[in-house]
Amino acid sequence: MSQSNIESVLHEARVFPANPQFAREARIGDESLAALHRRAESDPVGYWSDLARSEITWHKPFTQTLDDSAAPNYRWFADGELNVSYNCLDVHLAEHANRTAIIFEGEPGDTRRLTYRQLHAEVCLFANALKARGIRRGDRVVIYMPLVPEAVIAMQACARIGAIHSVVFGGFSAVSLKDRIEGAGARCVITADGGRRGGNIVELKAATDKALAEGCPTVESVFVLQRTGEPVPMQAGRDIWWHEAIVGLSDQCEPEWVDAEHPLFLLYTSGSTGRPKGIQHSSAGYLLGAKMTSRWVFDLRVDDVFWCTADVGWITGHSYVTYGPLAAAATIVMYEGAPTYPDGGRFWSLCERHGVTVFYTAPTAIRALMKLGEEIPAKYDLSKIRLLGSVGEPINPEAWMWYHRVIGQGRCPIVDTWWQTETGAIMISPIPGVTPTKPGSCTQPLPGIFADIVDDEGRSVTTPDAGGYLVIRKPWPSMLRTIWGDNERYLKTYWEKFQNKFYVAGDSAHRDADGYFWIMGRIDDVLNVAGHRLGTMEIESALVAHPRIAEAAVVGKQHEIKGESVFAFVVCRGARPTGDTRAFEKELRDWVTEQLGAIAKPDDIRFAENLPKTRSGKIMRRLLRAIARGEPITQDVSTLENPAIIDQLRGLG
Ligand code: WT7
Repeated sequence: MSQSNIESVLHEARVFPANPQFAREARIGDESLAALHRRAESDPVGYWSDLARSEITWHKPFTQTLDDSAAPNYRWFADGELNVSYNCLDVHLAEHANRTAIIFEGEPGDTRRLTYRQLHAEVCLFANALKARGIRRGDRVVIYMPLVPEAVIAMQACARIGAIHSVVFGGFSAVSLKDRIEGAGARCVITADGGRRGGNIVELKAATDKALAEGCPTVESVFVLQRTGEPVPMQAGRDIWWHEAIVGLSDQCEPEWVDAEHPLFLLYTSGSTGRPKGIQHSSAGYLLGAKMTSRWVFDLRVDDVFWCTADVGWITGHSYVTYGPLAAAATIVMYEGAPTYPDGGRFWSLCERHGVTVFYTAPTAIRALMKLGEEIPAKYDLSKIRLLGSVGEPINPEAWMWYHRVIGQGRCPIVDTWWQTETGAIMISPIPGVTPTKPGSCTQPLPGIFADIVDDEGRSVTTPDAGGYLVIRKPWPSMLRTIWGDNERYLKTYWEKFQNKFYVAGDSAHRDADGYFWIMGRIDDVLNVAGHRLGTMEIESALVAHPRIAEAAVVGKQHEIKGESVFAFVVCRGARPTGDTRAFEKELRDWVTEQLGAIAKPDDIRFAENLPKTRSGKIMRRLLRAIARGEPITQDVSTLENPAIIDQLRGLG
């Protein structure tokens, strides 16, 4: 069946031109963007070579830009030498040493600021502590920490000595931690006694002990940050307190100069099948992507206060907390806790108190905060915010409009940024002073990114609104290099489908008549209803456009006649409807029919208190699919925020 039959039925006609006042001061204007695109199109390799020379401080300059001799295992700037931490910290000491690098707020309300000079000193101290424990270039270090400055310090310290970090999100269980430690063959784990979330303590050290008790023979050292002060057992010879490990060490640490292709980090991410994949990123190419996109997409300058709400356990926290904005000498905000602790005003209060100018979050957070009502953000002064960003999933036009009107007060551009763990940096996004935006579209590829939409035969889909596979036609510097320890899987997952010709993102998308990209969802989230393919996201978007619906997740259920039917789990604003809900269900079906056409009408609607999500906020679709089909649940539910909802979703609660 041809992918080009993916039907796009979501019609969004609103266009928001770039704000002229923003445009006047923007880092990238109309002409410079056009010039970048021209340069990238006429000489893509030369374009990246110029950028790499001007944006990275090299210890030894590179002579070859792109090595494609082992394609699709591409190598960039391969004979150059650099250090990523040097490029994020040391390069700013001459001009910006006393500028704030990190503004931190813990969930209980404790705050801390670090200047670039202080951050540099802390990174050097801890780098020396790692070295004192025998950690060297190429060793793998697992970081399992709360979202506190030491998480960034630990990552930067690894980069400084050439150790390869693998951050494991603090919300993952001991079992997931163990798998990732073993996958990476880590010699060292950096953790904390605990972290704080939603008024509770997340017992990170206890989980680490459990993981290590069940395996992980390669681990020799465990560094433990004191964050909560709760007592935790320390194993002599293995465990060492962070604050004790740095005593008497120097706050200077000569960076380890590494090859451009030296792995900076691994980051495990789930695939549609099998074990999580250790996505391996490079040093120079990755840094270039993170830095350039921080400056172009977020328009970052040294006087910006940039808050990316992502945890460092995700790629967003790597590229837009730890590396990109620091390389751009901006000030970042880090907040440890839950968005709604102690109440739904916490995010907006943080923005007000710390003078956030650029705010970057996920649609799931926007929808959750939207559900609480606009009186909450109205209580805070959000006038310093000048730019808003969204990432992680398609943002439904409803949430986009709320974000624009209530948080951006109609004044702030919104950058809907499409990218992936694998791409390392933002790929498709508006340039805020230039690109007119349309709610729900990530607009157009950045200069140097050759994104396209192709059909099953790999032919470019040129008919407006016809769907297909989202692919990237040419290599780019921040792309993943391989899957750690499994290059076969790398080739199979991303390249095999079109004979290594282009990178296959795994998303379906379509382009409108203006050449704007609309992401429809993962390929495996595409439904086939009576021979029509429908993106699940479009139906969800339609459902949440209904005034009574806060959130929706749609999955396919086998259907005798239609092949697949639409099964919708919906969360209402206010209380969950109970009793006889048939009239309301009909209303919703009619609503979807009206928005999208009868083809997209859900056969089943189940009202839920909540949707099952991973800690990162991704809806667990495979779980919902199993529930919708009445199949047994086989997947790992250990990352579920609230396991009790499973029964309720089954219709038993
Ligand atoms: C998948 C990647 C990139 C950081 C966070 C997620 C979806 C991401 C968007 C967007 C529509 C998006 C895609 C992609 N996605 N951003 N702006 N619009 N979809 O990283 O966990 O690697 O997930 O998230 O499906 O493939 P990730």
